[in-house]
Amino acid sequence: MGRKTAASTAKGKEKRQQRKEEQQRISQAMTVVAEANKLDDPLEPFPVFKRFCKNGLDATLFVKKCMKLEENIRQWAFNLTKRNMQLKYEQCSWGWSDEKKLEELMDDAAWYLVAKSNEGALLGFSHFRFDVDEGTEVLYCYELQLDPSVQRKGLGKFMMQVLELIAFKNNMRKVVLTVLKNNQYSRFFKAINYELDESSPVDDEDESYPYEILSKFNKRLAPPVTVKSNSNGHCCSGHGHHH
Ligand SMILES: CC(C)(COP(=O)(O)OP(=O)(O)OC[C@H]1O[C@@H](n2cnc3c(N)ncnc32)[C@H](O)[C@@H]1OP(=O)(O)O)[C@@H](O)C(=O)NCCC(=O)NCCS
Repeated sequence: MGRKTAASTAKGKEKRQQRKEEQQRISQAMTVVAEANKLDDPLEPFPVFKRFCKNGLDATLFVKKCMKLEENIRQWAFNLTKRNMQLKYEQCSWGWSDEKKLEELMDDAAWYLVAKSNEGALLGFSHFRFDVDEGTEVLYCYELQLDPSVQRKGLGKFMMQVLELIAFKNNMRKVVLTVLKNNQYSRFFKAINYELDESSPVDDEDESYPYEILSKFNKRLAPPVTVKSNSNGHCCSGHGHHH
């Protein structure tokens, strides 16, 4: 028991104050995320970015919430993800599950950026979400998948630029994604200036992680204040996103 000293009371007060500020930050972040999720078309302010015409590709881009996406597009998004990623998941501790990937892709919170050719062929997509991650408002890129026939023509880079525009216009503090270390395409994200995020897990003697978390900051806003949690990371490619 004992009596509290003046110093320990002050410490308790400081802690309570800190906790209060943290809660306020999180609730502010949740408000910003909720606003973004109310949008109908996040691409509307950027008409120039609705078309990609380069290296023999002529594509139209649009953004929709998963719930509003046509069934054939949903099916295609799953099939393409499976085709591009299954083997990579199976080669690491994640493993592949059709059910888990479908559940993740079809979540009510999922948004889609889709690229389509003029002939109507589906070329690539990103599954992203506006979310609070470690106390910070972020655009989390869960998936960026291009049909193998259109890779390495600049479309992936363009689509990431579109996600950044959408994120920063809507006051997200960073764009975050998870890449598998065994995926050669993680070099793509480094090439377009994504850097190791502070939430990325660090290997030690007991555990090594098959993935890393990369991010790009919104330069217009102050650096995010992170709230530590034992987060598992989301994924541009994995099941690690369940908090
Ligand atoms: C990864 C992916 C999205 C990249 O999109 P992309 O349109 O093919 O890439 P870009 O043409 O925009 O590449 C931009 C730059 O990134 C780098 N890059 C892209 N692919 C690369 C690769 N496989 N290896 C090394 N660097 C690569 C290059 O520097 C490239 O510039 P350059 O072509 O002028 O040299 C696409 O290839 C893809 O869908 N891959 C399969 C799925 C996947 O692994 N997704 C990522 C994890 S979710």
